[in-house]
Formats: sequence, structure tokens, C-alpha cells
Amino acid sequence: MRSHYCGDLHAGLIDETVRLTGWVHRRRDHGGVIFVDLRDRGGLVQVVFDPDRPEMFALAEQLRSEFVIAVEGRVRRRPEGTENPNMATGEVEVLALELTVLNRAETPPFQLEDYHSDTSEEVRLRYRYIDLRRPEMQERLRIRSRITATLRAFLDAEGFLDIETPILTKSTPEGARDYLVPSRVHPGEFYALPQSPQLFKQLLMMSGFDRYYQIARCFRDEDLRADRQPEFTQLDIETSFLDETELTGLMEQMIRTLFKEVLDVDLPDPFPRMTYAEAMRRFGSDRPDLRVPLELVDVADLMDEVEFKVFAGPAADPEGRVVALRLPGGAELSRKEIDDYTKFVGIYGAKGLAYVKVNDWAGQGRQGLQSPILKFLPDSAVTGIMERTGAENGDLVFFGADKAEVVNESIGALRTRLGHDRGLASGEWRPLWVVDFPMFEHDPHTGRWVALHHPFTAPKEDQLERLESDPGGVESRAYDLVLNGTEVGGGSIRIHREDVQRRIFRLLKIADEDAEARFGFLLKALKYGCPPHGGIAFGLDRLVMLMTGSQSIRDVMAFPKTQTASCLLTDAPSAVDEAQLHELALRIRLRA
Ligand code: AMO
Ligand code: AMP
Repeated sequence: MRSHYCGDLHAGLIDETVRLTGWVHRRRDHGGVIFVDLRDRGGLVQVVFDPDRPEMFALAEQLRSEFVIAVEGRVRRRPEGTENPNMATGEVEVLALELTVLNRAETPPFQLEDYHSDTSEEVRLRYRYIDLRRPEMQERLRIRSRITATLRAFLDAEGFLDIETPILTKSTPEGARDYLVPSRVHPGEFYALPQSPQLFKQLLMMSGFDRYYQIARCFRDEDLRADRQPEFTQLDIETSFLDETELTGLMEQMIRTLFKEVLDVDLPDPFPRMTYAEAMRRFGSDRPDLRVPLELVDVADLMDEVEFKVFAGPAADPEGRVVALRLPGGAELSRKEIDDYTKFVGIYGAKGLAYVKVNDWAGQGRQGLQSPILKFLPDSAVTGIMERTGAENGDLVFFGADKAEVVNESIGALRTRLGHDRGLASGEWRPLWVVDFPMFEHDPHTGRWVALHHPFTAPKEDQLERLESDPGGVESRAYDLVLNGTEVGGGSIRIHREDVQRRIFRLLKIADEDAEARFGFLLKALKYGCPPHGGIAFGLDRLVMLMTGSQSIRDVMAFPKTQTASCLLTDAPSAVDEAQLHELALRIRLRA
């Protein structure tokens, strides 16, 4: 049917006859001549219908947006002055000799030709097949496909085997709720959709495959955000007999190759590394955006003689934290801007946002500062803060004081926000390995320890003896890859000894019988010759999102779900009929 993609026509084809197919992007009538911009996945080209072929012309007059047509015609140079430099094919046009309408189209719910980003996402998702015709969406999915092809080629060359793992399976704890699937054959029993292939990839190492990868779909019933979907894709990897240095070295080589081949970007070699503790201290986050040059500075120890409760309380609390954040040039912030930032940190639980404007510290000292809290701060505290933050005239210093968790989250988020709002972020790519995570976090609500990664992550060998006596002080062999403030991947060296795995389950208060019921197969497999192994999983959607400069994970998935985990295109999830429920031995009980 077709000889060329529309977007592939160029001056070298002038005078040749071509056959094109595609969608009517736009039709314009100009003094008895009809112009159609014809679109396919290759791009756009202008087709001209002359009235000297009356039959064809009459048909061309009926063309509307999104009709699907086939055109045979001759490529010619556009008349002088009518070239379109904004179009890849703008030097040429096609004089139509024959036109076939392959299919008509109703008026689309939004126009592709003058698409504005204010078209609601709801409409875009409902008519996703039309939305996906947009050149931006085509480009994103094209890049996505190149990304997976490049990753596969790299891993294949490195001897990794692509092995599939089950979708109907048993629960894998990755910290989210499971999606459950009822079994017809086993009434009252359920499969869980995998939150990740974690346990299967470990079993593949025990099976001797040594290097595994899979582009794997994962399912997590959790609160959704701009970078989170209930169903998403991981590049999932596991290896045997590599330690963390070898594994992360190989993985960053893969990411460097990816960026070079797809974006022609040279990422640093090696990627920098930072401990979890340092990341929290300097940036309040375990996924710091290193493009932003601002840092949190601890000042609790300067608050000895301060009576101001907002600072003195957290300064004296072992779980508290008091930090300063210097914003160069920030003295010019208006009252309203500061109020907006105060509201912003409120989202993260901060009860306020104290600040000091540095108008003229160099010349006037204390008199040159401006702040609602200045009266509460003795000279020693003021001098200490100014010295430690390095604040200069024209700067502003923000303060966060609360439980460490609240300060880290709120001032950490403020830091990134200020960096971008104030144009301080440099445009480069800044990858970072975050390492030396604590094994466990204490959950104040249940009083239990929870695994910071997942319960199969190995503790540092030399800290094993402190596991029970000081769980909070034990570090794991986990690593996260962070890129420009997004966690794009995470993994660890795993526990490969059954006794250690049992100790971890006990620490997590998973009773022996419970561990047996949930992970008995793993515990058993660990007893039959398990090699030391470890791996990582990259959030493929997030990686594509970053690499295409997209704002939402939904823009890099062909058929994403909404914030409430529904698919507007198919209307899933939806009710099922009584007979199906009966077969599954289920009855719906609506919540009152
Ligand atoms: P983790 O839970 O950290 O690790 O997931 C790995 C990566 O997957 C991405 N990701 C998501 N992307 C989109 N939507 C989501 N809901 C979502 N959740 C996670 C993130 C994250 O870094 N089995 C372990 C890996 C391992 O230990 O090898 C795991 O799943 O980019
Ligand atoms: P208040 O005494 O509550 O009026 O607060 C005085 C100043 O301290 C105001 O600028 C508040 O925004 C700020 N503030 C209050 N609570 C905190 C906090 N937890 N961390 C940082 N600043 C705060």
C-alpha cells in the first residue's frame, strides 16, 4: 500500500511517484486548491489536490480531520516562499494523482493539529488511541522502545538470560498492598500479582542461571503519584557471585551506555557514591537532587542558650533536628513568597518556616539582619548560624525545627523546590549511588522494626552479631541509584544463608509458622546450595520519564491508569456478573 513514511520525504525524491498512507492532520482550502497535511508515525507531509482532476478533488473536499487515506502522487519542490522550515519535510510537497479514503472519522474529541496542553488528561486517557497519535506521544514511546532495545542488547552481550517469572503467584513483600486474584479451582484461595519478581529471581540464582534479567511488570496497590503507577515495569536483574562493587560497577556501565546511545549524553565514570547518613544530613533525603546546590546545615548545638521553644525543644530532643538552609540571593523574596513556602513545608508536616534575611551582616552585624525570630536568638547563636551557613549579604536563611523526620522531609523538599524555582539547578544529569542504608526502620505506630528495603536484603557481614542487640544500628548491603532527585533503581546483596534469613524474619516479628506459610519455599531452597547473590531493579517507566523530559509517568506508558487506579479507556475495574462470582465462590459485601 505504501512506498514511504510521510515524514521521510525529502528533496532527493523530487519527481518520484510515491504512495503514502496516513491520517488527515489538517485540511485547508486555498483558492480552489486543497492542502492536506498527511500524518503517519514518520511525521507530516503536505499533499496538494488540484481541481484539474475533478473526481479526486470532489473526494478531497470531503476529507476531515483524522480520516484515513491513501494517496499516490508526485513529489515536487514547494514553490519559492512557501517552504516550511518548521516541518522536516517542509521543502517538498506531494501533488496528488490518486486518492482513496480508507476510513472516515467522526470529529475527534480534541484537535491534534492545534493540541493544547490544557486538553484535560481525562479526555486524553478516555480517547487514548487518539492522544497517542500526537507526535510527542509517538516520540516518547519510540524512545521507550529504543531504551529497552539498548538495555537488552547490553545485558545480552554481558551474558544475562531473559527469563520470565509468574504473574499469578504468592505475595512478595515490597511494602505495598497486593492485588489478589481469586482461584476458581481452589475456592476461597487467592493468587497475588507480583509486587516484583524478587523471590523468583533469587530462586533462579539457586537454580544456577548466574545472570538473569527481565523486563517485568509489577503490581502494587499503593497511593499513586506523578511517578507511581499501580502497574509498572521494572528492568529486573539478579546475579550470582558478584559483590556490591562489581554489581553496581556493571550496572552503571549499563546506564552510561544507555545514555550515550539514546541521548548522546556522557554520564560521569564512575558515578559518585554517598552514604544514606550523609544524604540525610546534607539533603534531608535519600534521593537528593544533586543539581540543586543548597544544603541543610545542623544548628541544634547552637541553641544551648536559646529560649525560643520552637528551636530549643527539638534541639534538646534526641529524635529532633534543627537545621538552617541558606538561599543565596534570597533576601529579595517577598512576604508572599515566604508565606507560600511556609504553606509548602506545611504539606510535609512542618509547623512553620522561620527565616532570617541577611541585608547587611558584613557592615552592620546583627542590625543588618531582619527576622521575626531575631529577638529570640542570642548573639552567640546568630554568629554561629551565620558562620556555619556561610550566609552573605543578600541571602536568606530558612530554619526547620521538629522531629528529624519532619525536618528532613519538609526542608529536604523545600531545598529542591527552591533550587528549581530560583533557577539554581544546573541542567546536567547527576546520578548518585546511595549506599550503607540502615537495615531497619522503627515504626512508631506498631513499635516494630520494618525492613528499609525488603526482608531478603543482607546485613553487613561484620555487623551480623549486633543484629538482635542493636537492630537500628545495623547497615544493609543495599544500594539505590538516584538520578536528578528520582530513585530510578534499588537493589541489594541478598541473604544466602537460611539461619540469617530466619533471624531477620524473627526480628521483623514474622512468627516461625507465618514465615513457613509465606516463605517456606524460599527457606527450603536456601538449604539446597544457594550461591551468594544480589541484584537490582530499575523503574523503567521512571527512567523513560527522565530521559524524555516528561512530567508524569503516565506520559511514557501507552495505557496508564488514573490517580484512582482506573483505566478510563476500558472502564476497568468494573463489576462482574453473578455467575462469575458464584464460580469463584465469592459474594460481594458492600461497605456500609
Ligand atoms: P523497589 O521496590 O525499590 O525494589 O523497586 C525498584 C524500582 O522500581 C520503581 N518503582 C516504581 N515505579 C513506578 N511505579 C511504582 N509504583 C513503583 N514502585 C517502584 C522505582 C524503584 O527504584 N525487588 C526489589 C529490587 C531488588 O532488590 O532487586 C524492588 O522491587 O524506580
Ligand atoms: P511562632 O512562635 O509559632 O509564631 O513562630 C515564630 C516563627 O517560627 C515563624 O516564622 C514560624 O514560621 C516559625 N516556626 C514555627 N514553628 C517552626 C518549626 N517547627 N520550624 C521552623 N520554623 C518554625
